[in-house]
Amino acid sequence: MTIKLTTAFAASMLALAAPAFAQEVGDAAAGMKEYNKCKACHMIQAPDGEDIVKGGRTGPNLYGVLGREIASVEGFKYGDGILGVKEAHPGGTWDVEALTAYITDPTPWVDEHGTDPSAKSKMTFKMARNQADVVAFLLEHSPDAPANVAEADGDTGPAEPGGDAAAADAAPAEAAPAGAAAAPAAN
Ligand code: HEC
Repeated sequence: MTIKLTTAFAASMLALAAPAFAQEVGDAAAGMKEYNKCKACHMIQAPDGEDIVKGGRTGPNLYGVLGREIASVEGFKYGDGILGVKEAHPGGTWDVEALTAYITDPTPWVDEHGTDPSAKSKMTFKMARNQADVVAFLLEHSPDAPANVAEADGDTGPAEPGGDAAAADAAPAEAAPAGAAAAPAAN
């Protein structure tokens, strides 16, 4: 009886926990189908050449996109809008929130987070529904993504290098104490 109750309790806790998780990260299996909307323009090809999803070359390869630096696929000619985002956030990477916001409507995203508020995105595709699922699918093919890539911080901009959890070990202490450089000891 006790065991039964415990099991039932554990199951109900799982049932409670699962939707919250699913809501945040999405359903990768459903996202695989959603990716059909992307593949005309984007392949997913592993570094060893394996085609995970064969796709077009209008947009950059999306293998490992989560945790990857914005606009960093070698040889791909990015537009000025996304290059402005890269300039405004040196070393900034794609996290779940940024990617979700970007695919929802790329042009306003590059306007908000880049250097030119009237720039256009070269990606002429918007996704009104199921963004979380496609992002979950891409996360499955981002083996090097840091663990905190799916952490919600309410910021739709690029993840800053060394920000949040990454600061613990990966990032050198970059930020000098306020005033350290600006105010040399007067003597
Ligand atoms: C009609 C073609 C097209 C479709 C469809 C499309 N994209 Fe794109 N995508 C592009 C182009 C072109 C760029 C480069 C944007 C730029 O340079 O401004 C891009 C850029 C991106 C980037 C930035 C990559 C980087 O290296 O920083 C991501 C992420 C992305 N697309 C995800 C998606 C996802 C996910 C879908 C499907 C939901 C999708 N795209 C559908 C054309 C497309």
